[in-house]
Amino acid sequence: MKSEKLGVCVIGAGRAGLIHAVNFAKGIKNARLTAIVDPNRETAEQACRELELDLYYQDYRQALEDDQVDAVVIVTPTDYHRDIVVAAADAGKHILCEKPMAMTVAECDEMIAAAENNNVVLQIGFMRRFDQSFVYAREQIRQGAIGDVVLVKSLTRGPSIPQRWQYDIAKSNGPLAEVNSHDIDTLRWFTESEFEQVYAIAGNYRCPEARDEFPDFYDNVVMTATFSNGMQGSIDGAVSVRYGYDARLEVVGTEGVLFVGRLDHSGVVVCNLSSGLKAPAVESWRNLFAEAYRYEDQGFVNAVMNGTPPAVSGYDGKMAVKVVNAGNQSITEKKPIWLNND
Ligand SMILES: NC(=O)c1ccc[n+]([C@@H]2O[C@H](COP(=O)([O-])OP(=O)(O)OC[C@H]3O[C@@H](n4cnc5c(N)ncnc54)[C@H](O)[C@@H]3O)[C@@H](O)[C@H]2O)c1
Repeated sequence: MKSEKLGVCVIGAGRAGLIHAVNFAKGIKNARLTAIVDPNRETAEQACRELELDLYYQDYRQALEDDQVDAVVIVTPTDYHRDIVVAAADAGKHILCEKPMAMTVAECDEMIAAAENNNVVLQIGFMRRFDQSFVYAREQIRQGAIGDVVLVKSLTRGPSIPQRWQYDIAKSNGPLAEVNSHDIDTLRWFTESEFEQVYAIAGNYRCPEARDEFPDFYDNVVMTATFSNGMQGSIDGAVSVRYGYDARLEVVGTEGVLFVGRLDHSGVVVCNLSSGLKAPAVESWRNLFAEAYRYEDQGFVNAVMNGTPPAVSGYDGKMAVKVVNAGNQSITEKKPIWLNND
């Protein structure tokens, strides 16, 4: 390393990229933002202005040649993740790669092997594992607060209109990947087990503009699951909902139940005669999980600096991709899919 601080380059300066870039520019201990990458010059220049940063590249390969860059955060559309992770690992850069890790399990295997062969950290962006409510809930379960876990239910519904690449299931793996990767990871985390069988149904109810060009696109999905240890799981996901950002978890045990998350996150409730009770809904994942992204970025830097394993591994990313693909197969084939977890 050229400096005492880890030099970090954010690759992909879109919606999620900017969150990481702002964190690294402003307050992650032992790290500094050295550059960003985006092929879109306007996006890159705008990001540099916001970040008060001088250096951007339009091609990630240039950033990988920069010896001020010790680590990269990969926040491009999903189908670029494999190539960039492998190239970054081969260049000796530590890697925080946004979820979904990649499009296929084979790609994930290549990424994990590249990180291992080059002895670099590979962390996957499941920031809910750094969210204080989720962490507390998991601790309660481990201490037996609700007895033995029977069912883990997790939902994520967002207001965003999908980006064009997200309509294309071949480029994004659809909302099961883009939205519900987090829920899939949460179910693995809370059951401490692997998905055994999934059954998913899906449809496009709110995005008529995508129906002709992307007939496979779905904006609403429900998936049930069984786990190797006998527990049950249930996930629902949606995009383009008209009411706010909604991420909630419910865990049913043999002796109780536990809830995480609510729609009126701010805790402000207004009541008057004309409108009755009113509470503002959560607007976006950006504010709901702002702190979790900071802890995630700090966790990544700590793993690199201390030589400790990252909290969310390439294996965790790969198992989520496997479940996404099984879910999409279940939607297409209209039948339950068994996962082979050898
Ligand atoms: N952890 C989370 O909660 C979360 C939230 C949103 C998005 N994401 C993930 O982050 C990734 C990006 O999503 P987004 O919503 O920010 O997308 P986006 O479309 O807003 O931004 C993607 C950016 O990547 C740039 N880009 C495209 N190809 C590139 C390349 N080869 N090299 C460098 N930059 C490139 C684009 O120009 C764009 O600016 C996706 O994998 C997505 O699933 C994660």
